[in-house]
Amino acid sequence: MKFPESFLFGAASASYQVEGAWDEDGKGVSNWDVFSKIEGKTYQGTNGDVAVDHYHRYKEDIALMAEMGLDSYRFSISWPRIYPNGDGEVNPKGIEFYNNLIDECIKHDIIPFVTLYHWDLPQELEKNGGWTSQRTLKAFEQYADTCFAAFGDRVKHWITFNETVVFVRHGYIFGAHPPGLINDFKNYYQVLHNVFLTHAKVVLNFKNSGYKGDIGITHVFSPAFPADDKQSSKKAADHANMFDTFLYYDPILKGTYPEYVLTHLKQKGYDFELSHEDQEILLKAAPLNDFIGINYYQPMRVIANDSSAARELSREASTGGAGAVSYDGVYQTVKVPTLSYTKWGWEISPEALLDGLHLLKEQYGNIPIYITENGLGDEDPIIDGEIKDTARIEYIEEHLKFVKKGVSEGLDIQGYFAWSVIDLLSWLNGYKKQYGFIYVDHADHLNRKKKDSFYWYQNVIATRGENI
Ligand code: BG6
Repeated sequence: MKFPESFLFGAASASYQVEGAWDEDGKGVSNWDVFSKIEGKTYQGTNGDVAVDHYHRYKEDIALMAEMGLDSYRFSISWPRIYPNGDGEVNPKGIEFYNNLIDECIKHDIIPFVTLYHWDLPQELEKNGGWTSQRTLKAFEQYADTCFAAFGDRVKHWITFNETVVFVRHGYIFGAHPPGLINDFKNYYQVLHNVFLTHAKVVLNFKNSGYKGDIGITHVFSPAFPADDKQSSKKAADHANMFDTFLYYDPILKGTYPEYVLTHLKQKGYDFELSHEDQEILLKAAPLNDFIGINYYQPMRVIANDSSAARELSREASTGGAGAVSYDGVYQTVKVPTLSYTKWGWEISPEALLDGLHLLKEQYGNIPIYITENGLGDEDPIIDGEIKDTARIEYIEEHLKFVKKGVSEGLDIQGYFAWSVIDLLSWLNGYKKQYGFIYVDHADHLNRKKKDSFYWYQNVIATRGENI
């Protein structure tokens, strides 16, 4: 079986992780431009000032994507490039850059798949309360509308936010992303809601203004499964899915929050403001989402943890090393010795992706899905100057196998975007952890080089995955 002709084989990036040119052509300062320069926050102090210089080399990069045969390139727009202060004056040079980038994609028959927010918030807004402030929420609506008006004639696929739960959790609980707060649970839940509400408002505006194209959101997807046969582990997994999956898929796809979660939050005093008007907006927008984007790296294996210990730990710190387990006083994630893990301790389980997609179907019906990220973070072996990323090929091939199975079982999976198209800056792990099909030589003027996986993916696309 081949993948359907309409299925998009793509690869992805994000502005802060690739562009560089952090203060060029009128771009405003982002929260990451500031945060990454605080000592100890990122691996070896790496930052996105230059990143892999995609801002200046986008033509070369897109030519390589075209050579690979990509149907689509998922990239994000840097909000402070468009609105240097978050709101107020538009920066014409920012509009010009993305016009050029989009035109270059189209010239090569590559469909631009655009994320509006992949975590680089204008610092001016961060300073004034970030996602807790109404000013930011309003400003995002304006920024989104500016992008629809400027690029909507050519961009037909829009993602509002990338992985709300990750930037909010890392920002308000782990202290590992801006604004760097630790265990601020009250704001954590409020900000999640603020972002979901803003997404809903943007979807409504997109549809009411008559823009043509598809709009959705991208969530990380870490479905929980019991780590053993115990009934208590099964219950713990159900609880984990409530808090780590349904809490953020329900408001988007159903327009409501799970009662189970709301009750728990109330008991803990973490309940957030949910006005009748907000509720109506969520409900109105829910059926208008054209798709949901899923970033899948790994599932969670859980057991019960009924001690009073409640500990949330970042999946990674700035040490360049592996992440850790998390506890919430009900469940605990565990490593299972018989399963396989990446060098960074992320479980490799293509089966769990498919099982998880069926879980989503049970919950929300057969919604159109794009896998907007999936890939292997590794330190690629270089042998005689060639980048032998065999482990990445195996990883992606195994995941595509299960995506194909899902398509053949009738799941509405419309595309697959590998993370990442090119080696880029990992938020916390610098350049140590690589994901790309294209290697960037940091010792030699950021020169690009095709990895083994480049040729492999080129063949997959050319044959529409027939041999997968
Ligand atoms: C996703 C993000 O969470 O994971 C990407 O959307 C990120 O921006 C990717 O790079 C991999 O994470 P990491 O920490 O391994 O770079």
